[in-house]
Amino acid sequence: MRRLFPVTDETAAPASDGVPGTETTNRAGTDTTDREWGLDELAEAYAYPPGQAGPAGAAGPAGPQPWLRANMVSTLDGAAQHDGRSQSISGAADMRIFGTLRGLADVVVVGAETVRQEGYRPARAREDFAARREAAGQGPAPAIAVVSASLDLDFSLPLFTSPLLPTLVLTGAAAAPDRIAAAEKAGARVVIAGDGMGVDPARAVRALVDLGMRRLLTEGGPRLLGQLVAAGVLDELCLTVSPMLTVGDAQRIAGGPPVAVPRKFELTSLLEEAGFLFSRYRRN
Ligand SMILES: NC(=O)c1ccc[n+]([C@@H]2O[C@H](COP(=O)([O-])OP(=O)(O)OC[C@H]3O[C@@H](n4cnc5c(N)ncnc54)[C@H](OP(=O)(O)O)[C@@H]3O)[C@@H](O)[C@H]2O)c1
Repeated sequence: MRRLFPVTDETAAPASDGVPGTETTNRAGTDTTDREWGLDELAEAYAYPPGQAGPAGAAGPAGPQPWLRANMVSTLDGAAQHDGRSQSISGAADMRIFGTLRGLADVVVVGAETVRQEGYRPARAREDFAARREAAGQGPAPAIAVVSASLDLDFSLPLFTSPLLPTLVLTGAAAAPDRIAAAEKAGARVVIAGDGMGVDPARAVRALVDLGMRRLLTEGGPRLLGQLVAAGVLDELCLTVSPMLTVGDAQRIAGGPPVAVPRKFELTSLLEEAGFLFSRYRRN
C-alpha cells in the first residue's frame, strides 16, 4: 500500500528506471516501499478526529467529538453489490481497512437489509486493536446497531443472542410490540428513534451519542446511507473504488430521493493497493 494523497514521503516517486513501485527510498532516505501496511499503521491513518475541548474552565477534553463515517465499496461503474453482496467487489486490502474501521468504532450502524443479505454476525474483539481500544476507553469490540422498521429480523441469530456488547435495534415508536419484545428477549437493546414506523436518521445519531457512542461507523447499505446523507449527518465517507466493472443494475452506494443541493465533500486521504483506491472524504 502507498499513500497518494496527501503527498508525503510514503508517496513513492517514479524510479529512475521508470518502473513505479520498485524504489525503496526517497531522496530523504525514507522507506517508500510499496508494501502491505500493518493494522497499526492503518489505525493511525484512519483515526477519528481528536476530542473536543471541554467547556471553558473544564480540565481536559470532553471526549471524542461525535463523528459519523461511512465505509462503502463501489466498482468503477458504480455498483455497490454483485449478486446481492459486496464481498465479490472487495479485496484483501479493502477487508483490512474494513476491519480497521470497525476496530476504531464504538458502534457500527447498518440497515436491516444488509444484515439480512450479508448474514451479519457480532463484531469480534481483535487482539490487534485491544490496547488501542482500552486506551480510548472503548469496549473490546464495537456494538452493532441495526436500523429496521419492520423488525423482520431473525432474533435467534448470534448477532442478537451472543454479541460481546448487546446489539442495538433502532426503530420507530410504531414498531410492532411483539417484534420489539422478541428483540429484547433475544438480548437486543431496542432504541426508539422515530415517531412513526421508521427511524429519523438524525435522531438515531443523537440517540447513539446520548448512549456514549461518539465514534460512529455506518456500513450502509445504500438505502440507509442515502437517508444519512439527506439528513446532513454524514461527516465522512471512506470509499473504496474497486478496479472492476460489473454492468447490470446494482444499487449505487447511496440511494433514495435526490437531495436538493449536492452535498460537498473534500478529499483528505487517498491510498492505493493492487489497483484499489481507498479514498477518504470529509464534509466541507
Ligand atoms: N458496497 C457496499 O459498501 C455495501 C455496503 C452495505 C451493503 N451493501 C449491499 O447493499 C444491499 C443492501 O442495501 P439496501 O440499500 O437494500 O438496504 P439497507 O440500507 O442495508 O437496509 C434497508 C432496510 O433498513 C431499514 N431502514 C432503512 N432506513 C430506515 C429508516 N429510516 N427507518 C427504519 N428502518 C429503516 C429497513 O429495514 P426493514 O425492512 O427491516 O424495515 C430497510 O428495508 C446488499 O446487497 C448489500 O450487499 C453494499
